[in-house]
Amino acid sequence: MTYAIQAEGLVKRFGDTRALAGVSLTARPGTVLGVLGPNGAGKTTATRILATLIEPTEGHATINGHDVVKQAHQVRQLIGLTGQYAGVDEMLTGTENLILIGRLLGLSRRESRSRAAALLDRFDLAEAAERAAKTYSGGMRRRLDLAASLVGRPQILFLDEPTTGLDPRSRNGLWDIVRGLTGDGVTVMLTTQYLEEADQLADDIVVIDRGQVIAQGTSDQLKAQVGDQVLEVTPVDAADTASVARIVGDLAGATPEVREGLVSVPIADPALMPAAVRRLDEAGVTVGALSLRKSSLDEVFFALTGHHTEDLDAEAGELADEAKEGASA
Ligand SMILES: Nc1ncnc2c1ncn2[C@@H]1O[C@H](COP(=O)(O)OP(=O)(O)OP(=O)(O)O)[C@@H](O)[C@H]1O
Ligand SMILES: [Mg+2]
Repeated sequence: MTYAIQAEGLVKRFGDTRALAGVSLTARPGTVLGVLGPNGAGKTTATRILATLIEPTEGHATINGHDVVKQAHQVRQLIGLTGQYAGVDEMLTGTENLILIGRLLGLSRRESRSRAAALLDRFDLAEAAERAAKTYSGGMRRRLDLAASLVGRPQILFLDEPTTGLDPRSRNGLWDIVRGLTGDGVTVMLTTQYLEEADQLADDIVVIDRGQVIAQGTSDQLKAQVGDQVLEVTPVDAADTASVARIVGDLAGATPEVREGLVSVPIADPALMPAAVRRLDEAGVTVGALSLRKSSLDEVFFALTGHHTEDLDAEAGELADEAKEGASA
């Protein structure tokens, strides 16, 4: 099988900054590859290399077997890209934006017009079709941007953080669109900072941090790496938290996490739960709540990187606030 996307040992340096330090990844045709990583991990850099916008410093990559550097022209016929920052022309209407792209791609006037209408309809933008894009909400812009990347009927689509900043409803709408695309045989590489998004959409996930792949597999495989389930214990007396952590950590053979009196630890074997109850009882700990649940990708991320994605979201929020302050100053 030829992979739709295959990258081997991608390195990218910008002066002294090493944005990618040897990234390898593959995407099977008709699937969604989720590239998950915090701010500055190298997601956009990898996307831009694969979409032929920049060249790697080292390593190589192919799209449907075509080299992204030596056969960039062929690659461009196959791909669509929706960037992290919307690329539509603010002054043009939705229809005009899409027709312009159709014309640039060599479609006839008529084809461009009917393709624009069909895409606007599909993305729930028909009513806003004749309004300038600058009057669109964030979610509408994202949809228009995505529609723009589909005018050329790409076989492989790169979506760089397509849902960042969208409300849950718009996010769900976009997820449905992505699912529909793979149903049509399109291969999607989607970067995201949201674990839930990767969990919901991606057939395979590559986790990158500081320019390196730190884990990969299906969502279930990643979860299984750190234990399929999580045991959570809250002692009635907060003073018991440390001994609870020691007992369950000992049983699970992993370092538990303690947050606001709640001790949680991934466990591979659910049979450890009764043993935990016994040991806690023997130690004279009164347990307020004890539960077993399926582990989330967030726990996987914590186990791999030592930080939570919420922390990253908070960081991203701070950065956005700084940017706003900077803009208004
Ligand atoms: N053109 C550039 N010149 C210099 N440094 C760059 C350039 N593009 C990216 N970098 C650096 O490379 C690293 C990776 O950046 P990249 O944009 O790929 O990260 P990202 O994972 O997309 O992050 P985000 O989630 O914030 O979009 C960062 O340290 C960034 O500052
Ligand atoms: Mg980025």
